[in-house]
Amino acid sequence: MKAKKTSANSGATLALFEDPPRPAREALGTGAFVLPGFALPFVDELLPAIRSVAEAAPFRHLVTPGGFTMSVALTNCGALGWTSDRRGYRYSATDPDSGKPWPTMPEPLARLAREAASAAGFDGFSPDACLVNRYAPGARLSLHQDKDERDYGAPIVSVSLGMPAVFLFGGHVRTDKAVRVPLVHGDVVVWGGEDRLRFHGVLPLKDEPHPLLGAVRINLTFRKAG
Ligand code: SIN
Ligand code: FE2
Repeated sequence: MKAKKTSANSGATLALFEDPPRPAREALGTGAFVLPGFALPFVDELLPAIRSVAEAAPFRHLVTPGGFTMSVALTNCGALGWTSDRRGYRYSATDPDSGKPWPTMPEPLARLAREAASAAGFDGFSPDACLVNRYAPGARLSLHQDKDERDYGAPIVSVSLGMPAVFLFGGHVRTDKAVRVPLVHGDVVVWGGEDRLRFHGVLPLKDEPHPLLGAVRINLTFRKAG
């Protein structure tokens, strides 16, 4: 990398050491946005709520229809939960491990999802499913489309907590070039409208422990599934 010229502007030394301010909203498409730090004011309510969801419906590593065990561990809350086994991907009203309904979606999670969707231009979002993904260092999510939902009219709202990750946001075909979007604790990504079915994934996580969550990344993915 080329060294930055500072000679003409010695009064700006301080600015060189500060991160540039992050915009309120970065567009990834006409209906796809990163909302940097949008979830930060919610974190104190989110973490205990996620803990109680995971007590009622523990994280598990699911098997894909192709027979692979996912490196990401997951659980769900809300009326519907996303699951996978050798027979396929599906939404289910009950946790297949316990036979019980998934835990109710805690209100702070539902409120964050609603407000983030609005901030991205999707008013009236009312998710019935919240997938909770847990990444350890090395865990990854290969490129996929979210298309197990009944209708694609509602956006996807995706919240990042804990360790940083590189989110891949591709096109409508798996082989389309994907942009790399660095995501940190508190960032939210929303995609809907004509971007609703874009391929996306997460690169293998680096081991960069987070002060609050340790060597874990939690992702909340809100959807209108049923
Ligand atoms: C997902 O696509 O379900 C999760 C994306 C993420 O972890 O950021
Ligand atoms: Fe997804």
